[in-house]
Amino acid sequence: MRAILISALLALASPFAHAAGDAGAGAQKAKPCAACHGADFSTPISADIPLLAGQYEDYLARALADYKSGARKNPIMGGQAGALSPQDILDLAAYFAGLPGKLKVIPLHRLVQ
Ligand code: HEC
Repeated sequence: MRAILISALLALASPFAHAAGDAGAGAQKAKPCAACHGADFSTPISADIPLLAGQYEDYLARALADYKSGARKNPIMGGQAGALSPQDILDLAAYFAGLPGKLKVIPLHRLVQ
């Protein structure tokens, strides 16, 4: 029993455990982003700027990581993401994903008949 408890605690402390974003920290880091993406991150200042509120967390983290690495090229967002640390990216993604938003997807069963 004790061995199980110890190995469970070790698993939790593992550096290979899933990294988690802190939405509260993300809210602070997101302040400069509101200038374009809108104060609620659901009403961007122009139609070519995507909605972030309610987007999938892993999608957002991937998008930011790809802007940072250059895998996804955009002069504006490349500059924005360049200074973000991996933890910043996780925190921002957790924050945006938890916001109420207008994004929705069509259920798969309606697309594949
Ligand atoms: C100067 C305006 C501007 C600012 C400031 C800005 N963005 Fe963006 N953002 C854009 C534009 C334009 C795009 C679309 C780029 C493209 O076509 O790939 C975008 C795209 C994104 C995407 C991809 C969304 C998707 O659906 O693929 C994410 C995530 C994102 N921004 C997060 C951020 C974060 C986080 C910040 C603050 C650190 C930020 N943005 C600041 C203009 C801005």
